[in-house]
Amino acid sequence: MFHSKIIGLGHYLPDQVITNDDLAGHMDTSDEWITERTGIKERRYGVKHKETTSSMGTEAARTAIANAGLQPDDIDFIIFATLSPDYYFPGCGVLLQRALGITNTEIGALDIRNQCSGFIYGLSVADQFIKTGMYKNILLVGAEMHSMGLDFTTRGRGVSVIFGDGAGAVVLQASEDEGGILTTHLHSDGTHAEELTMINFGSHGGYHDEVDYGFPKEETLGGIFVTQKMLDDGLVFPYMNGQVVFKKAVVKFVEVIEEALHETGLSQEDINMFIPHQANLRISQFVQKRLGLSDDKVFNNIQKYGNTTAASIPIALSEAVEAGKLKSGDLLCLAAFGSGFTWGSALVRW
Ligand code: UT7
Repeated sequence: MFHSKIIGLGHYLPDQVITNDDLAGHMDTSDEWITERTGIKERRYGVKHKETTSSMGTEAARTAIANAGLQPDDIDFIIFATLSPDYYFPGCGVLLQRALGITNTEIGALDIRNQCSGFIYGLSVADQFIKTGMYKNILLVGAEMHSMGLDFTTRGRGVSVIFGDGAGAVVLQASEDEGGILTTHLHSDGTHAEELTMINFGSHGGYHDEVDYGFPKEETLGGIFVTQKMLDDGLVFPYMNGQVVFKKAVVKFVEVIEEALHETGLSQEDINMFIPHQANLRISQFVQKRLGLSDDKVFNNIQKYGNTTAASIPIALSEAVEAGKLKSGDLLCLAAFGSGFTWGSALVRW
């Protein structure tokens, strides 16, 4: 059986820095509130009409492929995780393939819609394909252009201040040597689907609740995706019940890491580096404490980039490696929790 090794990493962050004070110029918020509740000081926003989720993902992917010592044509499968795709369909995977100039149509491209846990889900899928010998070089990208779809009025402040744009990518390669991805664990609980969500534009037609979205009458054909009422009432933005998400996240992060350690016969003391999904610095600190990890064993960069959802783990991993924080043989622990709810963990022997 093959083992999946991460052989290349890359990340891309748009140049535009948006501080907490910048946001306070648009809505009733403050640097103090955002810093205290989330740890975030600033985030990056892509340039509208010039950058997209797939263009940022492409930049990160180019770096990761070069870092792996490969050419784009060496990639035989693409996995793209995002909640903010360029198009409703097709997904960003094929846009990335085109932008990278991969004309080989024998390869496959898969889009993952698991929000904050998208990268971990992608890692797990890639690992299964590599283990079975189906693919040799898999490009896994997480990218988000949140800034195009947030509510920058006071109404949206509970969500908008948290999220930022960016992209991260890894190249996974099949190896006959031991190590690499040791285990992945994936979970979901759909009973909380609407606690962290962007339900419009979708095909729900009011199916799940009693809210008046201004949908046309049943006998009218079409017109169900977008209504004027959705636009007028601001029903087209993400919604998050922050406290419910927070409480669930801190429990599930710890659980899914303990599950991974238990299965591999390892313990918390064996972890050399923990890179959590950058949801909120308070969540990362809570989990760090529960795992008994010292500060030098945890990598956080949410202070600079906010929550970049599917991109947060690969950006942080790429930065951590660049900073020399991982050495050969180290045990790397990754974990994420988010919308769905979905969550997961991965243990990697570096
Ligand atoms: O990555 C995906 C997973 N997402 C997460 O893990 C996020 C988890 N949740 C959180 O990180 C936190 O719940 C938040 C940071 C989102 C919010 O912090 P909180 O301590 O749970 O605040 P809250 O939502 O309970 O709101 C407290 C108060 C409210 O005012 P009142 O009702 O007490 O008067 C909010 O209206 O803070 C107000 N508020 C704000 N005030 C200033 C909400 N957002 C803001 C803001 N600036 N940006």
